[in-house]
Amino acid sequence: MKILVLNGSPKKKSDTFKLTNAFLKGLKQHGEHTINIINVIDKNIAPCRGCFGCWEKADGHCVISDDQNEILDLYRMADLIIWSFPLYCYGMPSHLKAVLDRTIPLIKMTMRQEADGSVCHEPMVDFSKIHTLVICGCGFPEWDGNFDSLRKMCRLCFGKHNIVCVPEAPLLNEAEAASVANSLLKNFEKAGEEYAATMTLSKETIERLETPMISKEEYIKGVNRE
Ligand SMILES: Cc1cc2nc3c(=O)[nH]c(=O)nc-3n(C[C@H](O)[C@H](O)[C@H](O)COP(=O)(O)O)c2cc1C
Repeated sequence: MKILVLNGSPKKKSDTFKLTNAFLKGLKQHGEHTINIINVIDKNIAPCRGCFGCWEKADGHCVISDDQNEILDLYRMADLIIWSFPLYCYGMPSHLKAVLDRTIPLIKMTMRQEADGSVCHEPMVDFSKIHTLVICGCGFPEWDGNFDSLRKMCRLCFGKHNIVCVPEAPLLNEAEAASVANSLLKNFEKAGEEYAATMTLSKETIERLETPMISKEEYIKGVNRE
């Protein structure tokens, strides 16, 4: 597989990327893969100007000449795109959102209505051949609603692909939490193997990956140093 990993954490020691790395380790156990990891924070990617120059040119590239066009080339060739990032204000970090906004050169201005009444743009590339996986870590313990807006946005932007939302992610870089963190990392590795074999993750696997490492009460006490 050709795999493009968009790492949206601005940190050198990303909590979320530990999970993604474990997943990649599992993936590599089945088949030959070319893996391109882009640390988005190190790239020069301007915000979208909203000029729709890409739709006038219609060559699948953006009119701004910065690092985004290289990402678009990898994007359209990928079999699997992994978006790995921390939850920021219930969404994705702004530098990664700029990458997402600037994927519009891959769609056309023309619109179509779907059977369910929703409306979308005609694609320029065959998105049905590109698998997407979202791995998002966050700093809160699990509570209803924390990931709602992100999940909704991912569904609308990426369609019915796998989204894995992990609470309490800072525990992954906490020495005291090593035993619970390591078992989660093992589960991510197994999930990578499952993905390589089936190109998806079962509901049960996603539930396992999203299960909090410790209880909400214990986590809050730890954060508050009580
Ligand atoms: C600007 C900013 C906004 C954040 N917003 C949220 C949030 O909405 N919900 C949440 O649970 N955690 C939030 N966090 C916490 C991060 O998601 C958390 O620290 C995560 O583990 C960082 O992952 P990383 O090490 O991969 O970058 C925020 C952190 C920052 C710096």
